[in-house]
Amino acid sequence: MTLIRENEYKWYEKLAFNVIKCGPIPRHIAIIMDGNRRFAKTENIEKIEGHSRGFDKLSECLGWCLELGVKEVTAFAFSIENFKRSPEEVSALMDITKVKFQKLLEEKERLHENGVRIRILGNLALLPEELQQLMSEAMLMTEQNNNLFLNIAFAYTSREEITNAIQTICQEGGNLEEEDITEELVAQCLYTKDIKNPDLLIRTSGESRLSDFLMWQLSSTVLYFPKTFWPAITIWHLLYGIFCYQRSLLSISGYKTAIEQSSVKSQSGMSDRAKIFLHNVDMKRRDRLVRLSSAKHKGD
Ligand code: FPP
Ligand code: MG
Repeated sequence: MTLIRENEYKWYEKLAFNVIKCGPIPRHIAIIMDGNRRFAKTENIEKIEGHSRGFDKLSECLGWCLELGVKEVTAFAFSIENFKRSPEEVSALMDITKVKFQKLLEEKERLHENGVRIRILGNLALLPEELQQLMSEAMLMTEQNNNLFLNIAFAYTSREEITNAIQTICQEGGNLEEEDITEELVAQCLYTKDIKNPDLLIRTSGESRLSDFLMWQLSSTVLYFPKTFWPAITIWHLLYGIFCYQRSLLSISGYKTAIEQSSVKSQSGMSDRAKIFLHNVDMKRRDRLVRLSSAKHKGD
């Protein structure tokens, strides 16, 4: 499968996998795939080839994650800020993504066999129509799968995500009372609705910033910043990141449990008004995806 590579492992890599698997494995890993262009420069290749190698590395990394039993990966593929890059680079990135999604849709059987669910987090309306259609189709096609969750943050920033959630509440929450506006209600209006917070965040290339990525969701996440550029990342970086997670777990587990319990408490305490509002928001979101994905067939 092009999306999740079936990697071959050396005996010592398998051994390292088994050792790390003796400890808790993060359920959800978030990745900021940074350093593609600097990698391209060091390798004397075109910028866009650097991005292409970045995509290949994501496929390889998803193979490692599947092997290790990680259930969910969220990759930051395109920030809204990236629209400020040169039109040539933006357009080349859109083209790579389009080709990758076209291939992905052709691999329907393999995606179902592996139980892969794909979700795009971001403001789809900012993207070229064809990409919106392909992405909606991929999301709908895999919506029943539940073995490995791949979330691709595309045309995404946290500030836009939170602003969008507030707009949804203002536009569609006419029946809500002030006390209905809880953290849980806002969380359910984010692009990450129903997605558990990441346990581990990896940002490559030596930058130790969040760059407007999952700022609502990362409050109790372990952060790991390897210096290597994304396309050059190896299995050992991932294993070291997981080791950092295992080491930190003892000190943060109480905090994480407290957050999870408070979330469960506020969910169970949700008013009927809030539940109806969220149900309506869900229906509208899905209708929009169906409309976008079927728009493709009009031109066929
Ligand atoms: C960051 O490196 C990378 C990006 C902005 C693009 C990442 C895109 C891909 C890996 C391909 C598309 C992926 C999917 C999942 C469809 P950079 O450009 O900021 O490089 P630099 O930090 O060296 O300047
Ligand atoms: Mg960068």
